[in-house]
Amino acid sequence: MTKRTSSQLWTGRFTEATDAFVEAFTASEHFDRRLYAQDIRGSIAHARMLAKAGVLSETERDAIIAGLEGLRVDIEQGDFDWSPALEDVHMNIEKRLTDRIGEAGKKLHTARSRNDQVATDIRLYLRDAIDAIRAQLLRFQQGLVDLAERETDTILPGFTHLQVAQPVSFGHHMLAWYEMLVRDQERFEDCRQRMNVMPLGSAALAGTSFPIDRDMTCAELGFDRPSRNSLDAVSDRDFALEFTAAAAILLTHTSRMAEEMIIWASPLVDFIDLPDRYCTGSSIMPQKKNPDVAEIVRGKTARVNGHLMALLTLMKSQPLAYNRDNQEDKEPLFDTVDTVLDSLRAFADMVPAMQVKKGNMYAAAKKGFATATDLADYLVRKGVPFRDAHAIVGAAVRHGVEQGLDLAEMDLATLRGFSDTIDDDVYQILTLEGSVAARDHLGGTAPNQVRQQIAEARERLKGAV
Ligand code: ARG
Repeated sequence: MTKRTSSQLWTGRFTEATDAFVEAFTASEHFDRRLYAQDIRGSIAHARMLAKAGVLSETERDAIIAGLEGLRVDIEQGDFDWSPALEDVHMNIEKRLTDRIGEAGKKLHTARSRNDQVATDIRLYLRDAIDAIRAQLLRFQQGLVDLAERETDTILPGFTHLQVAQPVSFGHHMLAWYEMLVRDQERFEDCRQRMNVMPLGSAALAGTSFPIDRDMTCAELGFDRPSRNSLDAVSDRDFALEFTAAAAILLTHTSRMAEEMIIWASPLVDFIDLPDRYCTGSSIMPQKKNPDVAEIVRGKTARVNGHLMALLTLMKSQPLAYNRDNQEDKEPLFDTVDTVLDSLRAFADMVPAMQVKKGNMYAAAKKGFATATDLADYLVRKGVPFRDAHAIVGAAVRHGVEQGLDLAEMDLATLRGFSDTIDDDVYQILTLEGSVAARDHLGGTAPNQVRQQIAEARERLKGAV
C-alpha cells in the first residue's frame, strides 16, 4: 500500500494524496485565518477544561497554553507559516502548535471537532464585531443629535413623493435618521443575545465520550450558556443570517440617508454643502465636487444585500448536522463586518460636518405651498368641514400656480374670494415658523418637541455606553 507523506492531519485512511486542485479548492486558511485570535482563545479554554477534567496533565495544559500564546504573537508579527495543505485556521494552528511543543500539542483536539470549534470561533468573532459596530453606531447617533441641536430652528420643506409637502425642522429630520439607528442598535443587541450561546462540547455532531465541563469553558469564553443540542449547535448559522439581516437593514437606512444628502448637495437643490475632505473632483470637469462618500455608502448596501442572499441560500437545504457548505459563510460575513464598519465610520465623520444652507431651504419651503394644509386646518377651526376646506385651498393653490404667488403673498380680498371665513389672522398661520410651531405634540416637528426629543435622546445615549 502506498502511504503518502503529508502535513495533513487526517490522512490515516487515505491511500493517495489529495489532488492539488482539490487541496486549493477546499482550503479556507487564506480567509479564515482572520479567526486566529478566537481560535486560540477557544483552544486555551478547552485545554484548561481538559486538564480540570483529568484528560490532560497540568504540564501538558501549560505547554499548550504557552505554545498557543507564542503562536498568537507569531501570527501578529507576520511570522507564522500558513499552509493551504493544512486547510483551515484550526489545523494550521494545531499543527504549528505540535511542531512547537511536541506530543502535548497532539492532545489538544481531544473531545472536540473542528465543527464545534468553528461554530464557537465565528460566534466569538461576531460578538466582537457587533460590539465594534454598536460603538460606531453610537458615535453616529451622537453626531446626529448634535446636528439636530444646532439646526432645531432651521426650516426645510418636508417631502412626500419628493414633492414639497409641509415645512419641518431640520433637527426633526436628523432625529428621524437617529430613530432608524436606534432600531438598528436594538437589532444588533438582540442578535448578540441569541448568538451568545456556546457550541463547544458538541464535538463533531453528537457530543463526546469524555467527561467535559461545558460550564467551565462557557464561563471562560464569556458565553451566556452552553448550547442544548449538539446537532443544532454545530450546524445552524441562523445567528449569521440575523447578523447579516441586521446589517442589510442598517445599510438600507444609511443608503436612504446617502440618497437624501446626494439630492440636497446637488446644485439643483443646494440645501447642504459637504466638506471638501469627503468629496472628490472630476478628472475632466473642473467645476465638479461630487458626493462620492455618500454614493459609495449607498452602493455598499448592494453588496451586503447580496451577502444576505448568499447566506440564506447557503443554509436553505442543509440536512443536519455539519456540512462543508458552511465554510462558505465566512467571506460574506467578514465582508459584511468590514462594509458596515467602514460605512458607519464614513457617516459618523461626515454627516455631522455637513454645512446646512438655511436660506435655500427656507426659500424652497416658501415656494412650494408648504403651508396649504395649515390653511385647510385654519378653515376647519372656523367651522368648515375638512373635505370642503381641502377643496377651497386646492382652488387657492391653483390660482397661486397660475399667478406665480405663494398663499402668503395673496392679499386678503383674494383669499376671501375662496372663502369668506378667512380673516387677516390667516397670515400668522401661513408663515413657515407658524406652521412648524403648530405641530406641537409628541412626535411633531415643533422646535419645542424637537428640543424635548433631543434631551431624551441624550439621556438614552448616556445609558448606552
Ligand atoms: N473550515 C471548516 C469551516 O469553516 C471547518 C472544518 C470542518 N471540516 C470538516 N471536515 N468537518 O466550516
